[in-house]
Amino acid sequence: MSVRHSMQVGVNRALRPTGFQLIRGYTTDPAISPFLPARSTIRQAGKAGKTVGDFLDSYSAEPGATAGTVDAMLEIGHLTPDTVDRVCEIGPGSGRYTTQILSALQPSYYEVYETAKDWIRYLQDTLPTLTFQPADGHTLASTPSASVDLVHTHKLLGYIPFVTALGYLDEIARVVRRGGTAAFDLITDDCLDDSTTKVWLTEPHRMTIYSVAPRAWLTDFLAQRNLELVGSRFVPLSGGRTELLVFRRT
Ligand SMILES: C[S@@+](CC[C@H](N)C(=O)[O-])C[C@H]1O[C@@H](n2cnc3c(N)ncnc32)[C@H](O)[C@@H]1O
Repeated sequence: MSVRHSMQVGVNRALRPTGFQLIRGYTTDPAISPFLPARSTIRQAGKAGKTVGDFLDSYSAEPGATAGTVDAMLEIGHLTPDTVDRVCEIGPGSGRYTTQILSALQPSYYEVYETAKDWIRYLQDTLPTLTFQPADGHTLASTPSASVDLVHTHKLLGYIPFVTALGYLDEIARVVRRGGTAAFDLITDDCLDDSTTKVWLTEPHRMTIYSVAPRAWLTDFLAQRNLELVGSRFVPLSGGRTELLVFRRT
């Protein structure tokens, strides 16, 4: 444990009765959820002899989870280099999905909205062709309406406040062009099978980061924004599963 981390633990212990806690990050906005620290994650991946993406797959879900999710997105959305040239991704983190989409679709333009400064630095070093939009944690304000062929996000919407996720869904519907694709995962009520709820009840403190979206209501909310559900797939999530949902803008 670093000196800074030990100090944070000590301060948090003292603050606990007040209901306040220090968290690693650069903001007090509750819409912006802290992520794993880039430096130690990259170091641990190196020690394990894995890429950061493979390391995160084994750490938070299961080996091959990212590739499986990207394959499902491509297949359900019928996405090819001929149909996708402009991409927007929210919360890429380490860029494990970004890398795979770049290689499968070779878009000429790929923009990201990321709030963690340490991961932005890492992405700037490793994927220098990306366009980094100013991320306010709520909107896709720098992206014109109907301007992208594919907008996607992974392991984000189920772990930020539900109202923030709703705001992003509204924005996702705005930025995708007619005929374009929106793909994201959420913990829908269908994800809550017996084995998932059993894990959640066994480890409740670890699961407070998640929120659950009602699937039927959600598809209706998006249908009102001209997003038609074309398919879905359960994908692994630390502590259960989440549902990848793929929509076409009509
Ligand atoms: C759980 S991580 C998932 C990262 C990546 N998509 C993956 O699956 O490996 C969520 C990511 O979204 C970023 N993030 C957190 N709150 C956000 C917000 N309100 N708007 C945009 N990004 C956010 C975090 O910094 C982190 O990179």
